Amino acid sequence: MKNDIKKAVIPVAGFGTRLLPATKAQPKEMLPIVDKPAVQYVVEEAVQSGVENILLVTGRNKRAIEDYFDYAVELERELEEKGKTELLNVVRNVSEMVSIYYVRQKIAKGLGDAIYHAKGFVNGEPFGVLLADDIIDSEVPCLKQMTDVYKEHPGVILAVMKVPMRDTKLYGIIEGKRIGDRLYEVKDLVEKPEPMKAPSNIAIVGRYILTPSIFESLEKTLPGKNGEVQITDAIRNLLIKEKVYAYEFEGTRFDVGEKLGYLKANVAFALKNKELGEKFKKYLKEILQ
Ligand code: UTP
Repeated sequence: MKNDIKKAVIPVAGFGTRLLPATKAQPKEMLPIVDKPAVQYVVEEAVQSGVENILLVTGRNKRAIEDYFDYAVELERELEEKGKTELLNVVRNVSEMVSIYYVRQKIAKGLGDAIYHAKGFVNGEPFGVLLADDIIDSEVPCLKQMTDVYKEHPGVILAVMKVPMRDTKLYGIIEGKRIGDRLYEVKDLVEKPEPMKAPSNIAIVGRYILTPSIFESLEKTLPGKNGEVQITDAIRNLLIKEKVYAYEFEGTRFDVGEKLGYLKANVAFALKNKELGEKFKKYLKEILQ
């Protein structure tokens, strides 16, 4: 159908220094939130939002992610022989969920550069970008909420949330005009401004719908903060020729790329877990007394 988003890009080539030493020899995207690696939550969100093909932009030390979404032949045989059908299905479903493609970003030159690696895969279509650092717990998957906005307002769509003013220096911040329920037309955006210089407290989180013109813009975007090619700068350069919207999604976002956010996500998802929820709540009550 017209205006459907069928492709998504998940960049996973960053170093994950905020979670060191856990990420010294394993990808941060493989760290579990209760019983599933973080990257699986975002892959599931994409699939539940109608995405059919996913490109993972990987880098060194990220082989475990490729293995995770592949068949695990010996393990599956073992589970089959032992009659552990339920576990076998869980393991198989992971590899059969969706078509996943891989491209390698040889040097981690920033999120914008990682997304540029998706040019061939995207092949002229609009596409979603999901960062596995941001796990969003919501009734309707966040990317689905955004694709619904895209159908009415074709253009770049940024997922945003309001943050305390003191935290603006941690995010890309928009300056926008409110044009509807939870919706803003973006006039400008700034990467990680100090509170005094921030045009608002409306912060971009790790979900984007981008149009193919982003690639042309990325080609012209020079490295910005930290010497990295910032996607925020490339979107900013697009503002002259394309509509950019910011959508305040419904749901709770956890930043699992840093230690406290990672812990919070584990607690929240454990409490919601069918098998563990009640027992975990009881345990928390006990230790908090
Ligand atoms: P971050 O800013 O979280 O960087 O990247 P990072 O290296 O992953 O983590 P820290 O800050 O060192 O702890 C945001 C997203 O962009 C991807 C990351 O994998 C993450 O999903 N990324 C970043 C790339 O794919 N390539 C890059 O060059 C940079």
